[in-house]
Amino acid sequence: MAQHDTTHRPATRGILLAGGSGTRLHPMTLAVSKQLLPVYDKPMIYYPLCTLMMAGIRDIMIISTPQDLPQFQRLLGDGAQLGVRFAYRVQPRPDGIAQAFLIAGDWLADAPCALVLGDNLIFADHLPAMLRKAAERTHGATVFAYQVRDPERYGVVTFARDGAALDILEKPVPAPSNWAVTGLYFYDGRVRELAAGLRPSARGELEITDLNRIYLAENALHVERLGRGCAWLDAGMPDSLMLAGSFVQTVQARQGMLVGSPEEAAFLMGYIDAAQLRALAGRMGRTELGRTLMAIADGATPTPAP
Ligand code: TTP
Repeated sequence: MAQHDTTHRPATRGILLAGGSGTRLHPMTLAVSKQLLPVYDKPMIYYPLCTLMMAGIRDIMIISTPQDLPQFQRLLGDGAQLGVRFAYRVQPRPDGIAQAFLIAGDWLADAPCALVLGDNLIFADHLPAMLRKAAERTHGATVFAYQVRDPERYGVVTFARDGAALDILEKPVPAPSNWAVTGLYFYDGRVRELAAGLRPSARGELEITDLNRIYLAENALHVERLGRGCAWLDAGMPDSLMLAGSFVQTVQARQGMLVGSPEEAAFLMGYIDAAQLRALAGRMGRTELGRTLMAIADGATPTPAP
């Protein structure tokens, strides 16, 4: 007899952290949230939102600053149009990425959780399968490492010869490796309790690296290495913002495939049907994005496998 999962493990929830001060993008972010700036033809937050949706996550909390949160609500609503559920909460001050688990506390309860930073764009053909594997893991945490030229700006991971993660350090100078930890993290149901035990670092923040180090010390941190076929972009500086926009434009123009469309993600994941997708496309007027979504609803455009 086919067995269903009888453990009643709660579904993985998602947090999209879209606060911060965005000082490296001044003056663009003096009056507008960084995560609402355009990355080619969509607001930046659409891209990490797709990452969570492609992981099979349908309960998503968006956390931002007191002044910016209403704009995200205006943009995204309650999620029903995408077949998902959005919740919203304020982070009064940028006191650290790991504070997200305390802000989301009661909403999260003891569910496993994925956290994605609102300015992180990750693309890879095999990403959905990798994300689902991470979301289904019942014990431990999963982070993703990517080789960059400027690792000292990030959490940096070192590996043993056999590929096991040895250590993770926050913004080390000099960096002991060029493997940076990306802004996408999956944790088991203990994350809220573990985050509650963190103390602010020397720079006064609750550090996500400290949380990852707890899992590492327990031998429960899975570090997936993203290779050559992946792109990880953090759109937090003028050059990287421009690069991210060019990347999206290039892929979309060349392949006719969308990058970072929550409407398409909802359709591919089966959260909405073709009629619902047509309605969303219709609202985009005569944009190329609207036309492409309409073609996807009609089955007339190549779509990647979810
Ligand atoms: P950062 O890029 O480290 O910080 P920032 O966005 O404030 O930018 P800047 O350094 O230019 O001033 O933050 C990474 C992401 O995490 C970004 O999407 C903002 C988000 N974030 C929060 O929402 N709350 C926080 O407390 C922190 C530290 C970051």
